[in-house]
Amino acid sequence: MTALPKPRGPLSTWVTNALRAVPDEEVGRTDLEPESLDDAAVALWMLHELSYGGLDDVDDRAEWEPELIRVRLRLEHDLEARLRERWPGPPEGADLGADFFDWVADHDGPSLARLVQTDATKEQVLDLLRVRSVYHLKEADPTTWVIPRLPVAAKAALVELQYDEYGVGDPARLHAHLFARGMEASGLRPEPGAYVDEAPSEILEQNNVLSMFGLQRRLRAAAVGHLAAFEATSSVPSRRIAQGLERLGFPDEMVGYYREHVEADAVHEQVALRDICVALVAEEPQLEADVWFGAWACLDLEDRTAHRMLDAWGVTA
Ligand SMILES: [Fe+2]
Ligand SMILES: [Fe+2]
Repeated sequence: MTALPKPRGPLSTWVTNALRAVPDEEVGRTDLEPESLDDAAVALWMLHELSYGGLDDVDDRAEWEPELIRVRLRLEHDLEARLRERWPGPPEGADLGADFFDWVADHDGPSLARLVQTDATKEQVLDLLRVRSVYHLKEADPTTWVIPRLPVAAKAALVELQYDEYGVGDPARLHAHLFARGMEASGLRPEPGAYVDEAPSEILEQNNVLSMFGLQRRLRAAAVGHLAAFEATSSVPSRRIAQGLERLGFPDEMVGYYREHVEADAVHEQVALRDICVALVAEEPQLEADVWFGAWACLDLEDRTAHRMLDAWGVTA
């Protein structure tokens, strides 16, 4: 269970109160608008969390409280609209199977992994681990929602990939658990959501987009496109981060989490693109644009997070 995060404005305050009210008091209708991206992001993050491990002091029935669902959909609608507005559309004339990895490689954003590898201070790396933990402590979970929405071949491949993320039957090798052990060994708190209050809106949006893609069947192609881009930008950065962690004397458990991803994600990127995305589009060709959309969203949101962290550290990209 996760502690309720601190509200960041009137809407997230309303959500917090409504969550605590279920099931004893009626949750009235609200037309409050979020005051800021922070207010929107933390409100949606809380509403999504109800479908994962739940929140401390919140009744499990809150997950399906109709007014909370209505607020969730309103926030998801705004989040998707902001992304679609920024999205330039699928790359012209590109073939998904043949051109995807080049398209990812051509994307030129600031690299936090490169900074960690060579120059980052221990404090900066601890900052990064704390906010990354919002995702890594439930790593792979948002994508699991997608499994029942896929045709046969893509489904089989996604389950194979997730089996790896979930430790191949060994709880000690489950990626989220590897990260938790790394956090603990580094003197950080390993419980899910421990550092949500520190996470900037960009980090919360990364998580919210993953949950939205996973929870809405309509967005299943965006979910697998996001997965392919995520895996395709993980292997080399994970090697850089592992080297940076070693440079700064971080414990083996934390280094080990990133080392695990150097080889695993070099395989996962192939499975995600060829056996999941291409296989899905072969069955449902009208979904191809959304595969590109989801992949673009992954890269765009990571750029925004990187800029935000670099700004906070006073480092120029
Ligand atoms: Fe992983
Ligand atoms: Fe992976």
